[in-house]
Amino acid sequence: MRAVVYTESGESSVLELVERQSAEPGPGEVRVRIARAGVNPTDWKFRSGKMGELAFPEIVPGQDGAGVVDAVGPDVAHFAVGDRVWTMLAQHTRPGGTAQEQVVLPVENVTPLPDSASFDVGAALGVPAVTAHRALTTSEDGPDRLAPGALAGAIVLVAGGAGAVGNAAIQLASWAGATVISTVSSDEKATLAAAAGAQHTVNYREQDPVEAIRELAPDGVDIVVEVAPAQNLRLDLQVIRPRGTIAIYANNGGDEVTLSVRETFSTNARFQWVLLYTVGGAALRAAAEDITAALADGAFGVGDGHGLPLHHFPLEQTAEAHAAVEEGAVGKVLIDVT
Ligand SMILES: NC(=O)c1ccc[n+]([C@@H]2O[C@H](COP(=O)([O-])OP(=O)(O)OC[C@H]3O[C@@H](n4cnc5c(N)ncnc54)[C@H](OP(=O)(O)O)[C@@H]3O)[C@@H](O)[C@H]2O)c1
Repeated sequence: MRAVVYTESGESSVLELVERQSAEPGPGEVRVRIARAGVNPTDWKFRSGKMGELAFPEIVPGQDGAGVVDAVGPDVAHFAVGDRVWTMLAQHTRPGGTAQEQVVLPVENVTPLPDSASFDVGAALGVPAVTAHRALTTSEDGPDRLAPGALAGAIVLVAGGAGAVGNAAIQLASWAGATVISTVSSDEKATLAAAAGAQHTVNYREQDPVEAIRELAPDGVDIVVEVAPAQNLRLDLQVIRPRGTIAIYANNGGDEVTLSVRETFSTNARFQWVLLYTVGGAALRAAAEDITAALADGAFGVGDGHGLPLHHFPLEQTAEAHAAVEEGAVGKVLIDVT
């Protein structure tokens, strides 16, 4: 089978297409024939060496994918050959990710994909949608699971709603009944955030975002889903309602923040830090179930109509796919594997 591998960190040119033997699934594992792989910033960050030394001598990149189960290991009760599935965290603690034709994974990393959902959407879920789910389910007064109505009455502010995680946060929050406000840096991105389901968009380059958000939410917002805290925390603290949650999942735009202690504790708000790699199995399973329910409801999609333009690359152009994500492609970068 064909696989894309790297054996040293560096630019996307370290990726090479090779032939490898397919592995057999062991106890508690299935093998998935990958149709589509999703590319996320974490893939190029690990490959580049930004996240430290390589954990394995040879790595197939890719946390996310979608395809069909083609072999089932001993003791696996809930999957059968032919099942359509989506994957998450395929490569976190293992050398083999989704940029290959067949990947063996523990069943915990594999979730049934409803018949109505395409492989494109399946490959776009793992990292972005699970991160968004976590960010939306840790508030003091909010739900710990998402379902229609779970966020009814809540106002969610999504920073950078045209990003992959931002898009997923808008779609999931809208499905759960929240009013969604999204900040964006351009009119094009405003159109995408609105297509994802944001009722209100605020172009922070053209308007004073605090004033605009306060006008839309005079009592403040309940949850902020934050991608760029170094740039936005002051804004977040000025619009969060008492006991609200500011969920921070990235350090885009800077890694250091300075806070006024008094201004911060006066909000009675909480900061929820979010990292998929340490979030724990219970949160991952809850996210997988709720996201799949949103898919089955037809409430989660990809493509222009859902505010997430797709960019397809063939497997042999995985290096170009990584480069596209690294250069900030707007939308979702997918690899057509088989
Ligand atoms: N913690 C986790 O587990 C986790 C999970 C997934 C992703 N992440 C991280 O989250 C970040 C976003 O991932 P993604 O896949 O959503 O990326 P993406 O599709 O490239 O979106 C990033 C968005 O961030 C916004 N942004 C705001 N300030 C920015 C700045 N100073 N520089 C760059 N972008 C800025 C941009 O929107 P505007 O131009 O409208 O501001 C952009 O649309 C990445 O750093 C990724 O590594 C973390």
